[in-house]
Amino acid sequence: MKKPFFIITQLLLVFLMACNSTTDQPQNANITSKSFGTLPSGEEVTQYIMTNNQGMEMSVITYGGIITSLTAPDKAGKYEDIVLGFDNLEGYLQDGVPYFGALIGRYGNRIAKGKFTLDSTEYELAINNIGNHLHGGLKGFDKVNWSAKEVEYADGVALELTYLSADGEEGYPGNLETKVTYQLGNDNTLLIDYMATTDKKTVVNLTQHSYFNLSAMKEDVLNHQLMVNADHFLPVDSTLIPTGELRPVEGTPFNFTEMKKVGADVNQENQQLTYGLGYDHCWVLNEGAGKMDLAAKAYEPNSGRTLEVYTSEPAIQVYTGNFLDGTLTGKGGTVYNKRTGLCLETQHFPDSPNQPEFPSTELNPGEKYESQTKFVFGIRE
Ligand code: BGC
Repeated sequence: MKKPFFIITQLLLVFLMACNSTTDQPQNANITSKSFGTLPSGEEVTQYIMTNNQGMEMSVITYGGIITSLTAPDKAGKYEDIVLGFDNLEGYLQDGVPYFGALIGRYGNRIAKGKFTLDSTEYELAINNIGNHLHGGLKGFDKVNWSAKEVEYADGVALELTYLSADGEEGYPGNLETKVTYQLGNDNTLLIDYMATTDKKTVVNLTQHSYFNLSAMKEDVLNHQLMVNADHFLPVDSTLIPTGELRPVEGTPFNFTEMKKVGADVNQENQQLTYGLGYDHCWVLNEGAGKMDLAAKAYEPNSGRTLEVYTSEPAIQVYTGNFLDGTLTGKGGTVYNKRTGLCLETQHFPDSPNQPEFPSTELNPGEKYESQTKFVFGIRE
């Protein structure tokens, strides 16, 4: 009786080893899902927990495509959550939550006075930010429930989110079929792949609004060092709309061409810093649009964590959580005070639909909107 059992277990072992050697799929990279609650509309929100084979974990909910948590190792190898957010859906449904971890669309950043014209038709959008339109309107892509499914990715795990934004939604023309894929790589990278098509001429500018804190909330972000691969930034008016000028960063507090503490110049006497209550500006990337070039790099000395951002977009909005004021309490009871998070929002320039000299954000039927951003998480001793 014992011998056949032994042979069967041996055969099983050989079979399992053979399976393992023929697949590239790392053993412990996986996605699980669970309910994250119900929206007032009755829609179910699902949370996907994505884990790579290093143990890095990223949770995403279908509501807003929000990254609710993301862990990265420090120099001692300890994985900790490095993004702002809430423990439950109620947190995200509160009034005035400033887009923590969310997908932003149809138009990330601002459109002056909520108006733009395409082929002599004027479109009017919601005014939701000091006289302007911000981040897609009252119910932007951050507040819709996306469809989600796991997709094949040999070097990690991937989740595909889709949403059809109907013609006229939030005032924008065209049925916009949108697809965003989050790819968590086994090399501790997060690639975000955006795609959209329309059936009527429209404008699109998608981004991701995670607030990073590489110290894992042990301190604010003023001690983080930052490099932005940009010799110019876009100065704004008092309502944070670009004036149209591409201003050299040299000799200004906006010079991050070399690694510099976020807090080094943030309190300098400077009209632009006054308007934004600190950094809340769009930097024009040196490498321009198209290829995946280095856009920015952050480093937090105590943890040793580094974050590199690569993008096909022509610009990056750097926002240092200036409007956080301690009224929101997030995960684990952490109070989100001014400058507890650093947003690195890759995008086209704000207000491009009204500023023809800026790279175009128009999308025509038959064309494909494509954009990619990669976040690389690492350590420096
Ligand atoms: C904007 C800020 C805004 C923040 C949260 C950023 O992308 O540039 O002005 O306060 O999002 O809404």
